[in-house]
Amino acid sequence: MKNLLMEVENEVAVVTINRPKSLNALNSETLAEINELFTEIEKRKDIRVVILTGSGEKSFVAGADISEMVNASSQEGRIMGMLAYEAFSKIENVPQVVIAAVNGFALGGGCELAMSCDIRVAAENAKFGQPEVGLGILPGFGGTQRLPRLVGKGRAKELIFTTDMIDANEAYRIGLANKVVKQEELLDTCKEMAAKMLSKGSFAITLAKQAINVGTETDLASGLQLEANLFGLAFSTGDKKEGMTAFLEKRKADLTDF
Ligand code: HXC
Repeated sequence: MKNLLMEVENEVAVVTINRPKSLNALNSETLAEINELFTEIEKRKDIRVVILTGSGEKSFVAGADISEMVNASSQEGRIMGMLAYEAFSKIENVPQVVIAAVNGFALGGGCELAMSCDIRVAAENAKFGQPEVGLGILPGFGGTQRLPRLVGKGRAKELIFTTDMIDANEAYRIGLANKVVKQEELLDTCKEMAAKMLSKGSFAITLAKQAINVGTETDLASGLQLEANLFGLAFSTGDKKEGMTAFLEKRKADLTDF
């Protein structure tokens, strides 16, 4: 792939958006590659956690590629929005956990990309923002939908309408970032978080992810019903037998299902 790098080690994939000359801005080609790569990742049993980051120390992703959008027609803008919709929904719904390691600017489409991940760990120099209305457009890669769901409508509207950029600590305060760490500790922190998850039941985590993603987008009764069904499904796994038996035998569980 031209714009993405992937390294897999110990069941953790580090995927890097690699367009450093434009601060990793997302053009259509990169969006298509993200969709393609995560379509591959969702089938891979040797990957249980994905860490998504940007190349360099300055930027996670500085947004959609403005040089591509400047002359785009309304039809082309919609196609680009749909490309991101597909790619980011794919990230959101793969069975693996996806952690965004936000290593700098996460603006516009970059903030939207981070929000499609399950968890966001921010480096101290990270900056989040939705600058679109200053460019005469609106957030088109999920920002008007995922941001209010993460931080509430009022804060999302303020960020989108003012285009204010916020730093990592403010992102943490409003619930946009899960934690803030030194830039040099960013990947290791994400890998430590991944290691904790690897020692748990991966299929159980996948089911919990599905219950949260689907359940929070429906009414409470339907969400609870879904949870009960998935809970029942977990009882069919070897991990459930091993996890509970290990507890009763006072030993460490060896959970392997995926
Ligand atoms: C294309 C970009 C870019 C972008 C940066 N670059 N962001 N190219 N699209 N989104 C390029 C610059 O043109 C420049 O190229 C190089 O990256 C370095 O950027 P500088 O501006 O020189 O760096 P700096 O002064 O440090 O400023 C960093 C920055 C600024 C604050 C992040 O680059 C910036 O404001 N970028 C745009 C952020 C933005 O508006 N994002 C939202 C895009 S709209 P050269 O060739 O000059 O070296 C969006 C919409 C999503 O995301 C939905 C669409 C449907």
